[in-house]
Amino acid sequence: MKFETAAGENPIDRQQVVGKGVDRIDGPLKTTGTATYAYEWHEPVANVAYGHVIGSAIAKGRITSIDLTLARRAPGVLTVVTADNAGPLGKGERNNATLLGGPDIEHYHQAVALVVAESFEQARAAAELVRITYERVPGSFDLAAAKDTAKNPGKITGGEADTAVGDFASAFADAPLQLDAIYTTPDQSHAMMEPHASIAAWEGNRLTLWTSNQMIEWGKQDLAKTLNIPAENVRLISPYIGGGFGGKLFLRADALLTALAARAIGRPVKTALPRALMINNTTHRAATIQRIRIGADRDGKIVAIGHENWSGDLNGDSPESGVRYSRPLYAGANRMSATRLASIDLPEANAMRAPSDMPGSMTVEVAMDEMAEKLGMDPVEFRIINDTQVLPEQPERSYSQRQLNECLIQGAQRFGWNRRAATPATRREGVWLIGLGVAGGFRDSPVTTSAARVRLDGNGMVTVETDMTDIGTGSYTIIAQTAAEMMGVPLEQVEVRLGDSSFPVSTGSGGQWGANSSTSGVYAACVKLRRSVAQKLGFDAQQAVFENGEVHQSGRRIALREAAADGDIVEEDTIEFGDLDDRYKLSTFASHFVEVAVHSATAEVRIRRMLAVCAAGRILNPKTARSQVIGAMTMGAGAALMEELAVDTRYGFFVNHDLATYEVPVHADIPHQEVVFLDETDPLSSPMKAKGVGELGICGVSAAVANAIYNATGVRVRDYPITLDKLL
Ligand code: MOS
Repeated sequence: MKFETAAGENPIDRQQVVGKGVDRIDGPLKTTGTATYAYEWHEPVANVAYGHVIGSAIAKGRITSIDLTLARRAPGVLTVVTADNAGPLGKGERNNATLLGGPDIEHYHQAVALVVAESFEQARAAAELVRITYERVPGSFDLAAAKDTAKNPGKITGGEADTAVGDFASAFADAPLQLDAIYTTPDQSHAMMEPHASIAAWEGNRLTLWTSNQMIEWGKQDLAKTLNIPAENVRLISPYIGGGFGGKLFLRADALLTALAARAIGRPVKTALPRALMINNTTHRAATIQRIRIGADRDGKIVAIGHENWSGDLNGDSPESGVRYSRPLYAGANRMSATRLASIDLPEANAMRAPSDMPGSMTVEVAMDEMAEKLGMDPVEFRIINDTQVLPEQPERSYSQRQLNECLIQGAQRFGWNRRAATPATRREGVWLIGLGVAGGFRDSPVTTSAARVRLDGNGMVTVETDMTDIGTGSYTIIAQTAAEMMGVPLEQVEVRLGDSSFPVSTGSGGQWGANSSTSGVYAACVKLRRSVAQKLGFDAQQAVFENGEVHQSGRRIALREAAADGDIVEEDTIEFGDLDDRYKLSTFASHFVEVAVHSATAEVRIRRMLAVCAAGRILNPKTARSQVIGAMTMGAGAALMEELAVDTRYGFFVNHDLATYEVPVHADIPHQEVVFLDETDPLSSPMKAKGVGELGICGVSAAVANAIYNATGVRVRDYPITLDKLL
């Protein structure tokens, strides 16, 4: 089905099931520990051997020798896979560093060997006996030091690396009020609960891989490419995923090495990355340095906005650039943006929840707060008067919907924004300084092609199959709701099967495109199934109503299951969106409000209240959507206050490679969160009229925390995370 517009009604608009805050249908499996994660497939994979990954001990250079003699003689050892014996390997399109390093080493903890043994303990013990000697060469590990060598990457996601509109230099120079500030955001880790893990089993030249992956088709294609085998010989299975946040968008070392080992020993192998390898072996969000200049007139209108962003990546691969956030968001006739990328020999930087927009929101929304203060204007008001309904860099292009101002207005009312003291450090409760902060929030909501198969059987059960994944987001539930609504059956009459490459290719989970695109694919398949059912039962496909397990038209009523009485009806379709994204900008908007208390002696920061107001199209399930947003708010609080990969700039690795030292928020850090969704449907976004919320929820949160801390203390910290040493 080709989507043009959903103006007018369709069965989803009835919202008997869609739009209801039903519980996650996979919830009981998760809470009882019976959902099967990648490492936990026991019955289908008998006689499994265990792999243990060895990561490089240097960041850059080469292996001069590997001595496997002792390891091979160790009890239970079956094989040791290295680049020397793995045979010729290709490279996946989406991998930067090679997944099996050697002799050349590109980054610290790059996998250099997989030791395989009868038991996990034997594999781990034997790994200690592998003798590797390295020749270390100097690398570049410090973004601040490498900043001046950074180059123009030409393009960034969504457009040119550099943009200019009007005359920024003169408009800024002539502006009566100016801000010129430099902000930094640190390297961050996804730190998801379930590590990367895989089980591989070969039958002849066909590989089945149980793994933990957000994008099944990407993983399948890239694994086939790396192994130099046809893609149709690879099957990926990933029905439950214990968190991804972008870290599982791409094929990783566990998958490749496990497949190689299983082929080598002719027996299934399973491997999980130990926590200590997760940080440096896989990907992370790159640190940024951002210079923001804003010029405004005395009425508070922005007349000039300039944003420069520096980041680094291994082999100069891809930038993390906050300019993607400032370009479309606030008005201003004269603008410039520039992105510069340094080659840095740290592990590969890549997508993490709202790539680029997250670090962009962390800085731009603080700059807006600083500018409002210079103007003596309320920061909510300052944002409202600088709203734009068209793209500031492409005024001929508008948003399909943009309700940023409504988010700000509603949020201010609900949060009691009028209780904020305009002068910082003036509100006290005993030893605590109290502050309120606000930020806007923005994230694109792209749509992509997505397919599904639906089956109706003689019991009236509807089964949906698509390779869509559920990374903890609620995909199972909203897909079931979509099929139930379309076929007019209760939720219990729908079974959803996900995360298997033998199912039709979906949009996958990433870039907050998953919910809207995957349910639209299910919608398309259900439109076909409705047509077949109507035909079979002698109804007009357009006129027939599907509800309560029945099909009816003009007083004639037949049970839905009758259509499949003499055999299942199976239909499959794909939703295609054409150039929708070029014609309208499909985006989501939010406001974030935060109240903090800062201890006047120790500078300890306690978040007291958080509110997010989101405009994100039709909310398919307010419960799962809220869970996405409160999770994102929690992650945003972590980014504001604690999350930071500490770089050893001498040896080139992230020092805090565990969950004890890479700090993330715990329950005690997050006392009260409220989420409000504006009543919005977007007929230009898809037949579902929905958008995404999983990445919107994080954009702006950290800045709202930072602005609240400033309001409490009068100390402006421009380098994240805002740890107490920076406030004293
Ligand atoms: Mo997202 S960082 O595209 O999983």
